[in-house]
Amino acid sequence: MTNVRLVIAFIWAISSATNSYAQIAPIPFVDGLRHTGVPSCSTAGCHGDQVTGEGVGPIVGQNEYFQWASRDEKGAHSRAYEVLLTPHGKRIAANLGLGPAHKSDTCLDCHADNVAEEYRSQRFQISDGVGCEACHGGAENWLAFHRIGAGHARNIEAGLYPTEDPASRARLCFGCHIGSAYENQFVSHRLMGAGHPRMKFELDLYTTIQKHHVVDEDYRTRKAVTSGAQVWAIGQAIAVERTLTLLIDNNIGSTGAFPEFVFFDCHSCHQPISEGINQLSWRPNPGRALGPGAPILNDANIIMLQAAMRVIDPVLAAKLENQARALHAASQQSGSHFRRAAATLKTTAEQAADHLSEVDLSDPAKVRAILREITSDDRVRRYTNYAAAEQALFAVQRLTAALGLADSEFNAGIERAGQAAKSPYGYDQRAFGAALRDIGRLAAE
Ligand code: HEC
Ligand code: HEC
Ligand code: HEC
Ligand code: HEC
Repeated sequence: MTNVRLVIAFIWAISSATNSYAQIAPIPFVDGLRHTGVPSCSTAGCHGDQVTGEGVGPIVGQNEYFQWASRDEKGAHSRAYEVLLTPHGKRIAANLGLGPAHKSDTCLDCHADNVAEEYRSQRFQISDGVGCEACHGGAENWLAFHRIGAGHARNIEAGLYPTEDPASRARLCFGCHIGSAYENQFVSHRLMGAGHPRMKFELDLYTTIQKHHVVDEDYRTRKAVTSGAQVWAIGQAIAVERTLTLLIDNNIGSTGAFPEFVFFDCHSCHQPISEGINQLSWRPNPGRALGPGAPILNDANIIMLQAAMRVIDPVLAAKLENQARALHAASQQSGSHFRRAAATLKTTAEQAADHLSEVDLSDPAKVRAILREITSDDRVRRYTNYAAAEQALFAVQRLTAALGLADSEFNAGIERAGQAAKSPYGYDQRAFGAALRDIGRLAAE
């Protein structure tokens, strides 16, 4: 693995000599740089000035450490290691026969900045969990000079990870929140069977929850700012790409005689067996020509991406539509049909991600059009599964927020949709659809 990391770091070194940092910075987990540890960031005068609110630093707030370390949701990453020591964490590891969770790479590769021993400086502590450098990259080459205003481009060149770039951010977050092909960065159904929570994620929402930076005049001079709607859309495209990459990976995509279950909708298997014909929960879905009784590929991100592309690029949207349909059909044919169809759709999702990175989604008319698409009759009929409803709800929340419509008449509809999709087992598609259609009507006004 060390060799793989070195090769990646080397390729990056060559490419970054010629390019600006666009697409393919290696994620910090494999950046081949020494990680100097949270204590090297958190000192007073640096990112650990004891202040509240927006901070007092002339350039950045300088209170980022305290936000990362806070005990609420914002500080989840600082507790990522701690949770391995709770009864819950221990039980998962025990069920898997792993030994202590906090010593197992199977857990640490996502619950800490688990770079190889040779990439840890003196002050590095694994118990700091998902520390600053797990996202911002190993600081060995930029720690000293980033403080004296070397400039963002130089910092990036020295290994700072481009977290402000939505595509790069997606690849970073998804490593732990969807999974990656590196070592143990994947929560398989086996881990879930052992008690690991289901994974859910949406790039713009989760960025906002853990946000510890301020976008002010000064920020805008240093970094490109991307609208929330665009972050959402790029996140959807790269989520599809990432999921399909893992699905066709020989080491991840199947277990024994079966495909890996986590790629399928949890509730296509996990539901009570209905006692009478009137209790059957199966409903047709216009996005897939699957009859009753088939396990269903979790297509939540695909449905969202289609909605975005119908506004941005209808030709590509139609392609996504056909290829997704073919993928569902192939899941009933054979493993090789399934993987081939997944590879085809993956390529189109990559094209969509590239296209979405080029367009400007700060235009409210486009954002409204996407919101109308997500709440349209055709889309709403596709939210047959809880996972799809969850993504649709995230989308509605983020797109109304991007339009500056939070705390408005949209709230009542969002509240009702949230109630209908409050829990996976009580998901009420009819009530959810009705709430979304109402939101759509408002968006059309
Ligand atoms: C692919 C990355 C990944 C791997 C591998 C992984 N986890 Fe997690 N884990 C997460 C994420 C992300 C969450 C948060 C899920 C959420 O709330 O959306 C989480 C949540 C948890 C929680 C719940 C924490 C809480 O606040 O309630 C526990 C406990 C946990 N993981 C333990 C483990 C153990 C034990 C292992 C190893 C057997 C492990 N994890 C492997 C990413 C991972
Ligand atoms: C889970 C990933 C993650 C972790 C962990 C993390 N950050 Fe961040 N950080 C981000 C993202 C995303 C942004 C916003 C995008 C940007 O400006 O690069 C950000 C922004 C910042 C900024 C604002 C930069 C500016 O130009 O205004 C600073 C400073 C910062 N982080 C410092 C820290 C410090 C210090 C820690 C550890 C105590 C930390 N971060 C931990 C992801 C992370
Ligand atoms: C090295 C792995 C890793 C990376 C990279 C990472 N996360 Fe996480 N994240 C986790 C783990 C593990 C948890 C669960 C920790 C816990 O339960 O305390 C988590 C929790 C969260 C939570 C809290 C969720 C909740 O339900 O409370 C948010 C929000 C979040 N991450 C956002 C992000 C964003 C945004 C990025 C990318 C900028 C990111 N994460 C990158 C591992 C990671
Ligand atoms: C293709 C069918 C299928 C899919 C899809 C599926 N599971 Fe499972 N799940 C199973 C089977 C089979 C078992 C083992 C049941 C047993 O041990 O009796 C299981 C067991 C579990 C268990 C352990 C339950 C217990 O009480 O022991 C959890 C938790 C779980 N699955 C979560 C999930 C989650 C979360 C998802 C979606 C990400 C999911 N499953 C998707 C078939 C599936």
